Amino acid sequence: MSEQNSQPVVNTEPDLSKPPGPNMVRVTFLPEGRTVEFEYGSMPYEHHGKPMSFLDVAENFNIFLDHACGGSCACTTCHIWVKNGEKGISEAEDDELDRMETAADVQLSSRLGCQAVITGPGTYVVEIPSWNRNYVSEGKPLALAESKS
Ligand code: FES
Repeated sequence: MSEQNSQPVVNTEPDLSKPPGPNMVRVTFLPEGRTVEFEYGSMPYEHHGKPMSFLDVAENFNIFLDHACGGSCACTTCHIWVKNGEKGISEAEDDELDRMETAADVQLSSRLGCQAVITGPGTYVVEIPSWNRNYVSEGKPLALAESKS
């Protein structure tokens, strides 16, 4: 990864009918269907989860992905399902695999958003499971409700 700059190179209106440009990372967060695109290595680290994790990306773009433990692999609130791009994502380490054993609704594509790291340019699609969305719809945290308005 190249050195990170203070000014990320972001494509605010990606053309979804075309693949991302050279050295660009495109991430879609379902079910909102919100897509962000940025140059690989240009995004500042916001200290939530591992650098270039899906939680890190979400935090940089003000997309709500719960992270009760602050991204330290000590909860499962950042549980995501990887729908596309798995080959470009880091392998789960033992502590993540151990933690996932306590998660609800685990699937083969399950990862912890704070631990799954994007390792290169490309297209990635992840979904926040319904139980996590239900948690949000029951009134907390407020951040998602505000971002949806
Ligand atoms: S935020 Fe707690 S494990 Fe990811």
